[in-house]
Amino acid sequence: MAPSRIDTPEATPVAPTKLQSSQNPKTQYGDFRDEFFRNGYAVIKGALTPERAQEYQSRALDWLESFGLGFDRHDKSTWKKENLPQSWKGGMYLHFSAAHEKYVWDVRCEPGVIAPFAKLWETDELVVSFDTVNITLPQSIVGEYDSKPWPHVDQAPERSGMQCVQGIVNLSEAGPADGGLVVMKGSAPLFDEFFAANPVTGPTPWRTAKHKDFHPFSEADLEWYTSRGCELVKVCAEPGDLIIWDSRQVHWARFGESEVVRTIVYATYTPAAWMTDADRRTKAELFEHFETTTHWPHTNLYTHGKATVTVDGEERVDPLERDEPLTKPVRTERLLKLAGVIPY
Ligand SMILES: [Fe+2]
Repeated sequence: MAPSRIDTPEATPVAPTKLQSSQNPKTQYGDFRDEFFRNGYAVIKGALTPERAQEYQSRALDWLESFGLGFDRHDKSTWKKENLPQSWKGGMYLHFSAAHEKYVWDVRCEPGVIAPFAKLWETDELVVSFDTVNITLPQSIVGEYDSKPWPHVDQAPERSGMQCVQGIVNLSEAGPADGGLVVMKGSAPLFDEFFAANPVTGPTPWRTAKHKDFHPFSEADLEWYTSRGCELVKVCAEPGDLIIWDSRQVHWARFGESEVVRTIVYATYTPAAWMTDADRRTKAELFEHFETTTHWPHTNLYTHGKATVTVDGEERVDPLERDEPLTKPVRTERLLKLAGVIPY
């Protein structure tokens, strides 16, 4: 039976002061938070130096070459879909222990990446998501992807208020012609109003347990937002910049027309205090098994599982699957706290 919208996500303890700050337009911070609360997103310049971003991109490409399928970053004639392991939407690697490669954890532990989230949530005691990387080779070379826009939010309509803020650490250029994030600017604060006016009824086949914090939008829905003053913006950023957005903000990723290899790490942080003991145990177990999860750090902890292939009509584990990362992360105290393995 298709899962139904009647399911109610578990209650999440949310500090009321944080919600007030997100909903009180008179609050002035004098930093990126003003733009963030006004527009539902912000670009934080130089979370990493460009050199460090380039180094991390190089590690990401090492990883992509490590599957031995023929992809060579230095030889564009090898930039073909068949020379790459399977991914979602052209470059999101949900399997192969990708989320736990050392370089990905190194990015998540970067002080310049963590600091804006600590400021936003007003605590240094954070947990981070086990979501993954996106390495998308240009369509102009490898051919078209499924490039139809998929406007959505990553928060269930039943969750009221700001409960998750997502992040993209840019390891490559995201200019106007490059691939990158598109947001419906100003849509986050209209989240409750939208679902009050457009209640979700009937079967919602997309809503599995893993995808409960997700809702897709139609063209008419987008018009609902634009008629209230929202506008679509392609978010531009440079290597080393951090993009953050409220999970209630309507968004999707646009493929580029340039030859840039879009390379990003998704990194979302929320207060560790919001995690229940049961979720902490689940998260620690997911970490020990190098599983990749959703964007949510403290709840909605579901693995994407193993990559599969169909052979003679039978679904089997992709022979390229890995039980552990190629290069394991160093288990520092900082990392283990962010992973939820060690409590604060
Ligand atoms: Fe999303």
